[in-house]
Amino acid sequence: MEAAVGHTIAERFERQATYCGAMGAPVCAHLLSSAALDYARGGVVREFFAAHKEMETLSRAGIRFLAALHTCALDGSAPALAAHLPSCGGDGDAPAAWTAARAFLLENLQRVARLYNRTPQTNEPARSMPLLVGLLAAVQASPLPVRLFEIGASGGLNTRLDCYRYEGGTWSWGDPRSALVLRNRERGGRPLSLGAPLHIAERAACDLHPLDITKDADRRYLRSFIWADQSERLKRLADACEAASNVPLSIEKADAIEWLGERFRPREGALTVLMHSAMTYYLTPAQRAALRERIGRNAERARARAPMAWLRFEEEAGGMATRLTRWPGAIEGVVARSDGHAQGIEWLAP
Ligand SMILES: C[S@@+](CC[C@H](N)C(=O)[O-])C[C@H]1O[C@@H](n2cnc3c(N)ncnc32)[C@H](O)[C@@H]1O
Repeated sequence: MEAAVGHTIAERFERQATYCGAMGAPVCAHLLSSAALDYARGGVVREFFAAHKEMETLSRAGIRFLAALHTCALDGSAPALAAHLPSCGGDGDAPAAWTAARAFLLENLQRVARLYNRTPQTNEPARSMPLLVGLLAAVQASPLPVRLFEIGASGGLNTRLDCYRYEGGTWSWGDPRSALVLRNRERGGRPLSLGAPLHIAERAACDLHPLDITKDADRRYLRSFIWADQSERLKRLADACEAASNVPLSIEKADAIEWLGERFRPREGALTVLMHSAMTYYLTPAQRAALRERIGRNAERARARAPMAWLRFEEEAGGMATRLTRWPGAIEGVVARSDGHAQGIEWLAP
């Protein structure tokens, strides 16, 4: 990942470039390492930050820079850059992409700065696969209608995980007509509980910066933060937005801890599930403790006829684990291990 705020922009860009390169995004890697060199030599990138001093202290500098340029390529205002970005149907010529990006930056410093200031935001629907399997495991143990609450939901693509089609090596689940078919790579056999009767009777979600995936502007926002090399991921996002648009969901703008309150208190005749993915990284230690405290307080009220589950896809020991805890009984297990975007999943028995 990118070097922390406090390092120079050149160092932060260079670190993010190395990460992009390792993650199979050579055009983004080249854009960032060229921008780092340009900054170090006092070129247009240095000028860009000199004119907007406050931007140097914003986190995720490389991601912001790439997304600002990507927005202009995607919306047609930087056609010379788009001609070299795979996401825009371009030829993937990385040096030519940098030449075009540099020229565009020279002419559009103010616009790129405005875009740079946006809060980085992603919503990865591929995470729905391990989350769905975890949810099915919870329903298998407590076959009741589900009340699903997601915190840090972004555009709510994973909150609508039941509207996608899933096709594993030896199994499938969901509507074959769904606009999104997920075929994440798997190992470790076949997930369990696929036959559990999932019915989501109630769903609610919050985010500090909620996005409405039925709106073009919010879809474009999410697209822009996907690296321009990742055409497959862009298609997955477009397909997920199309499928999810059929499931109404209003995502409240709220801090997760404040929003939860007593909201997910177990209720008779339903399985109450709290879910989150790739979000606890953004919480302070005090917020994490408050989240656990909320969960513990609600879990004390769980009964056989009012069960509760906590399903999360979060970082553990250098990778991501999908972990499920069920109450009553505080029965806990790991459903799957994977990379950050759940592209390669190892199934475990929860
Ligand atoms: C990396 S994104 C993950 C989004 C989504 N869960 C997914 O897996 O695709 C993290 C999300 O958490 C949200 N977030 C961070 N801190 C939050 C908080 N205290 N309360 C609510 N949402 C928060 C961010 O706005 C962002 O949308």
